[in-house]
Amino acid sequence: MSKNELYRKTVAEIDLSALAFNVSQIKKQIGPKCEIMAIVKANAYGHGDVLVVKKLEKLGISYFGVAYVEEGIRLRASGVKGKIVVLTGGQKPDVFEALHRYYLTPVIYHEPYLKAYDLFCRKKKKRGKIHLKIDTGMNRLGIVADQALSVLKSLKKYKNLQFEGVFSHIANAERPSHHNQEQILEFKKMVSHSSVKFKYQHLANTGSLLNQFGIEMNMVRPGLALYGAYPLSTLRKKMKLKAVMTLKSEVIQLKNVKRGDYISYGYTHQFKRDGCVATIPVGYADGYMRFFSNKGEVLIHGKRAPIVGIVCMDVFMVDVTDIQNVSIGDEVVLLGKQKKEHITVEDLAERIHSIPWEIFCNLSDRIPRVVVQGRSL
Ligand SMILES: Cc1ncc(COP(=O)(O)O)c(C=O)c1O
Repeated sequence: MSKNELYRKTVAEIDLSALAFNVSQIKKQIGPKCEIMAIVKANAYGHGDVLVVKKLEKLGISYFGVAYVEEGIRLRASGVKGKIVVLTGGQKPDVFEALHRYYLTPVIYHEPYLKAYDLFCRKKKKRGKIHLKIDTGMNRLGIVADQALSVLKSLKKYKNLQFEGVFSHIANAERPSHHNQEQILEFKKMVSHSSVKFKYQHLANTGSLLNQFGIEMNMVRPGLALYGAYPLSTLRKKMKLKAVMTLKSEVIQLKNVKRGDYISYGYTHQFKRDGCVATIPVGYADGYMRFFSNKGEVLIHGKRAPIVGIVCMDVFMVDVTDIQNVSIGDEVVLLGKQKKEHITVEDLAERIHSIPWEIFCNLSDRIPRVVVQGRSL
């Protein structure tokens, strides 16, 4: 979408040069022999999967991780040529035809589906690539420890499969703990018993990358770091990254309020002094959560303006009493930089006991994603 087609000035700017910077920072960390599987599921964490993947392809990334088959099909339909690994929804027989048709690589984490996919590939007269997922303690997805050993030892019998990758997922990578080390040791021990050689072994997500473990393997799976965000604000010092998304809007109404007045649904905020409020055209229908009611902040004229009252479906209000000369049409930054101030996704998440992933993924399709190259619209 171009700037001219924006009738509401609420937009998520996607800075592709920041994406390129983050890729180069990750590459520096992992070295030349390690491959990146860019995690682009959930619409590239709300950044726009097609535009993100097309840029990543230009930057030389050739592996992409999605959660579900539909996400992979969408990328293929947009002309993405790279390898697409379906992390969650790619192992059941009813999706095998789609995997085949769209050149998608399944992750298999349930033994009977190894046999089923082997059989399917034999019928198609091809050797189908797979990544095998092992559960090393998270109890989410993966072949559990007491079965993994025998499965790994038996892989040789699947003549129609190509064992491209084996991996596990760390449950608490952002916080250094003995659990992380135990998961890594368990993974290495199990893989050492495999009867086939995997091209790639991988463990590291953003938390592992920042805390520097699991990066000795030959593939990493960053999501959040690509988008210039950190799992926790305390991890910012570990690696310099640039935020890819800036969420912006404008002031659409200004009102004077009197001491004792209330604002928005439910009378949850009462003014302690005479003042001025600005209405911003963003609401929970845009994924700007109601939890920000009376808690969030935005930037106007480079100053922080607190949200007052309940966030509505299409708008919310901020107190601009302490900001000089605010006018209708003035730029409002909900996420990102304005002059010397910066609202990061980690700050936003921590304010409402959420996580950066959730803040990004919540942003709805109603907000246009507009590409910029290192500059503001
Ligand atoms: C299996 C798997 N690998 C990698 C990632 C990327 O994690 P992060 O965004 O923390 O880098 C995810 C994200 O949820 C995941 O589920």
